[in-house]
Amino acid sequence: MTEEWQRGFYRRSLAQRQTLLAHGRDLGPLGEAQLQINATPEHDLVIENYVTDYRVPEGLVLGLVVNGQPYTVPMATEEPSVIAAASNGAKRVAQSGGFTAVIQERQMIGQVVLQNVTDPDHVITDLLMHKAELLQLANAARPSMQKRGGGAVDLQIRPLGSFVSVDLLIDVQDAMGANSVNTMAEAVAAHLRENGYDVLTAILSNLADHSLVTVTCQVAFADLATAALDGETVAQRISALSNLAQVDPYRAATHNKGIMNGIDAAVLASGNDWRAIESGAHAYAAKDGHYRGLAVWTVGAEGLMGMLELPMPVGTVGGSIKLTPQSKLNYQISRIQSAKELAQVIASLGLAQNLAALRALATTGIQAGHMKLQYRSLALSVGATPAEVPTLVARLATENHVDAAKATALLREMRENE
Ligand code: MEV
Repeated sequence: MTEEWQRGFYRRSLAQRQTLLAHGRDLGPLGEAQLQINATPEHDLVIENYVTDYRVPEGLVLGLVVNGQPYTVPMATEEPSVIAAASNGAKRVAQSGGFTAVIQERQMIGQVVLQNVTDPDHVITDLLMHKAELLQLANAARPSMQKRGGGAVDLQIRPLGSFVSVDLLIDVQDAMGANSVNTMAEAVAAHLRENGYDVLTAILSNLADHSLVTVTCQVAFADLATAALDGETVAQRISALSNLAQVDPYRAATHNKGIMNGIDAAVLASGNDWRAIESGAHAYAAKDGHYRGLAVWTVGAEGLMGMLELPMPVGTVGGSIKLTPQSKLNYQISRIQSAKELAQVIASLGLAQNLAALRALATTGIQAGHMKLQYRSLALSVGATPAEVPTLVARLATENHVDAAKATALLREMRENE
């Protein structure tokens, strides 16, 4: 049921929507002012029913060394320990020379799926016979892509029972290219329909396994040691955790979540579609029918060796990439010029993030470092002012059991004793 203030909401101006919402939900003058202060008028043209911007903290990872070059990487995340952990992992790897990232190819997949196919062999032969024509048709739908040196470059066919998937491989240059891929796939679909095929759908596939990045690194044992454990023991434990993520999907999901902590934050700050990267990563993690950890760590003679491979079809131009002023600024900060460079840096960040998480799990456990950072967020969430946060965090750190109720009680006590 639509409430009174919601009627015709999408037709109202931004200012009217903010006022209607503030009254409709009793947000008060302060709530309305907050909607107004955080809004970016241009964003009203981007999404439906726009009311304000939802802000996420942005921080930097400094000195992430990828292919010999140090990068400053903007990361947008609300999780307190993510940037600290990424910086920790990046530093340990930089001490041993940094990450090596390789991209063999960078093509997106546009799927045109036929249904009710009774004679797949005949269909496949027919489609392969017309391959050049189909590629030409796809390119004619987006001529600018070919002018920039890209375009549909190949076509692969996968029989799937009564379905047949015609996969267009499209070089989208520095764009993420979703719109171009969908336009090209739809053009091919229309042509196949005209030629009597029963086309079910035409859409990009997020399992972008023609846009893989492979990142490797080595960390000297000495750079893994803690006060209590020598570096080789830590390396062995990290490798055991990596093995566990290969055989247990429950652990693999968390292992990969840690990798995506870094990747999503950098993808978001780069203005790319992080849902596309998430879905591609998890689908790739299950590529052999069993969901596994994406990063693998083994112990060598000199140190710990890491490897991460995953699809990274990010772009540096087009779509919503430089839509927000902050995302534009982030390219000035990172000085990243091309989509390949961005993909290599983001994947390296994922491996750095995983290293830090596994080292913590292999040594003190995650909570020791994690909670101290979480306490700052907890203090703010129970209403501490920025000036009160350090004192409250110090008080929380002396407690055995910390939760919101404890933080609230300590804050009240602090204020009473002032
Ligand atoms: C927390 O956000 C991420 C970790 O759980 C990742 C992991 O367990 O590998 C620490």
